[in-house]
Amino acid sequence: MEVESKEQETETAEITLRLLDPSDLDDLLELLTDEEVVKWCSWDTFTSKESAMNYIIGFALPHPFFRAICMKNKVVGSITVSPFKGNDSCRAELGYVVASKYWGKGVATKAVEMVAATIFVEWPHLERLEALADVENPGSQRVLEKAGFKKEGVMRKYCLLKGKPRDMVMFSLISSDQQVNYGISD
Ligand SMILES: CC(C)(COP(=O)(O)OP(=O)(O)OC[C@H]1O[C@@H](n2cnc3c(N)ncnc32)[C@H](O)[C@@H]1OP(=O)(O)O)[C@@H](O)C(=O)NCCC(=O)NCCS
Repeated sequence: MEVESKEQETETAEITLRLLDPSDLDDLLELLTDEEVVKWCSWDTFTSKESAMNYIIGFALPHPFFRAICMKNKVVGSITVSPFKGNDSCRAELGYVVASKYWGKGVATKAVEMVAATIFVEWPHLERLEALADVENPGSQRVLEKAGFKKEGVMRKYCLLKGKPRDMVMFSLISSDQQVNYGISD
C-alpha cells in the first residue's frame, strides 16, 4: 500500500463506512444523478427523490453488503460486496462509486482498503474478493492496484455497459494476500 500526502491523509482519516439511512436521500440523489459516475454504472440517471428512495429501500437496505462511503458523515459514495452462490460461494464481487466532486482525494482507495481489511473476517467462508474495471477506466484500475489487488488479465467483451459489450480488467484479492497486506496472522 502506498504512502499518502499529509493533506490526503487528513481527508481520508475522515472517511467512514456505514449503512444508508433514509435521511441520506439528498446526498444519495446527488451521487445517483452524477453524470460522470452514471456513465460507468449499470443504472441510468435517477430522475426523482422517489426513485432514489426506492433504490434505498429496494436495493441498498436488503443488500448483503452495501455501505455508504461518508466524509464527516456526509454520503459521498458507496461500496458493495456481492456474494456468488453455490460452488462460486467462495468468491464475491466488489463495486464502488464516489461522487465526482470528491475524486482524486483517495476516497475510493481508502474505502476499498477498509472493506478488504475486514471482509474475510466478517465472511469467513470467503476466499476471493474480485473486482472488474473497464479497460477505459484507468482511475478504477488504479484504485484496485493501490489497495493491493492483483491484476489477473482482460476479460474480453465480458459485460454490457449501456448496451455495449465491454472489455473488463479482472482484479482479485484472496484471503492470504489480505493477511500479508494488512499484517493479520492466523
Ligand atoms: C473510480 C473512482 C471510484 C475513483 O474514486 P477516487 O476517490 O477518485 O479514487 P482515489 O482518489 O482513491 O484514486 C484514484 C486514482 O486513479 C488515478 N486516476 C484517476 N483518473 C485517471 C486517469 N484517467 N488515468 C490514470 N489514472 C487516473 C488517480 O490519479 C488516483 O491515483 P494516484 O493516487 O496514484 O494519483 C471514481 O472515479 C468513480 O466513482 N468513477 C465512476 C464510477 C466507477 O468507475 N466505479 C468503479 C467501477 S464500477
